[in-house]
Amino acid sequence: MAPRNLTDGDTTPKHPKKLIYALLRSNTSTPDSTTEKEIVSHPSRAHQFISNPPLTISQMHPTNPLHQFHAWFRDPRLLPSSAPETCTLATASLPSGRVSARVVYLKELDERGWTVYSNWGSREGKGGQVFGYGDTGAENGDGGIQAMPEPYGLDPDGGIPVGDEPLQDTISQSQGNKWAALTFLWPTLERQVRIEGLVEPLSRSESSLYWQTRERGSQIGAWASWQSKVLWSLEPETLIDRRRKSLDPTSCPVVPRDVDETDIEDGRALLEQRVKELEVRFKDVENIPLPPFWGGVRLVPESVEFWQGRKSRLHDRFRYVRVSGGGKEEEEEGYRWRVQRLSP
Ligand SMILES: Cc1cc2nc3c(=O)[nH]c(=O)nc-3n(C[C@H](O)[C@H](O)[C@H](O)COP(=O)(O)O)c2cc1C
Repeated sequence: MAPRNLTDGDTTPKHPKKLIYALLRSNTSTPDSTTEKEIVSHPSRAHQFISNPPLTISQMHPTNPLHQFHAWFRDPRLLPSSAPETCTLATASLPSGRVSARVVYLKELDERGWTVYSNWGSREGKGGQVFGYGDTGAENGDGGIQAMPEPYGLDPDGGIPVGDEPLQDTISQSQGNKWAALTFLWPTLERQVRIEGLVEPLSRSESSLYWQTRERGSQIGAWASWQSKVLWSLEPETLIDRRRKSLDPTSCPVVPRDVDETDIEDGRALLEQRVKELEVRFKDVENIPLPPFWGGVRLVPESVEFWQGRKSRLHDRFRYVRVSGGGKEEEEEGYRWRVQRLSP
């Protein structure tokens, strides 16, 4: 976007702080209603889903959404370079109900559900939301980082509901909210998959298997990161001052080329320092151990929707809904699923 001429019609703000805000807007392409209209809602940008065949019930697996997902995931038209394992995991805090979502990679799919790996130790991120803030594990002395809980089978208070147990009674702020959703988008195929269900932790030994496949740098990175804790922050007024300086070409620093370089101190150094400390700590350790706060969780589905884009927004949507809570007997036999077509 070309910089706007701030003197047109003499609309230049007279107050210095307002002037700075105006300059920042003009120099950083902050969207205003005009640019937003051009960029976001112009009719020529309205995508029509017309490139792929429709989805009919005959294409759906008759009994099992995991098999259906597998078939879609293995579609040869989904190129590995497009990272089809990329998905969005949404979780919610209790009691506020505040939702957060983040992109993660699907790492495993088995007959029980979808598995992703992460740091679950932070109260600030999804760890606190899913596993609670208090009684899920021992503090390890690293600023309130919590250990992951054991799988629910081993932890009678861990709280994944079984049988007819009412879900609402099993969740509380201290136990966390195990409800979560995972969404996949495969734009070239005009497909979306939405999974909703309950999260359960993998056992330490299961998580270790994947952990050992990670490269050493990523293992040290996982140990070094207090994921989603604030490393550094700046009050708004100070930020304006810093931004203004960095917009001045005479003082504008060169963009750093790698992690050893930085322009102004912005908290990165603390992370780098922590990485160095851990490199020393694990210097003589061949197999870096799995951190207590890091591991896999499986999303055990309650519903799975398969969405195929169609012309005029008249999409095809089929949803599998688990028929009952999945008691022990059903688990052994495999869950039973109702299949529904949803209105677009
Ligand atoms: C393409 C992509 C893949 C990602 N994969 C993962 C992942 O597999 N696990 C993970 O913990 N974070 C992953 N992240 C980072 C998360 O989006 C997020 O920043 C992090 O998990 C912290 O989220 P939280 O504050 O909700 O805990 C990925 C980000 C991107 C953009």
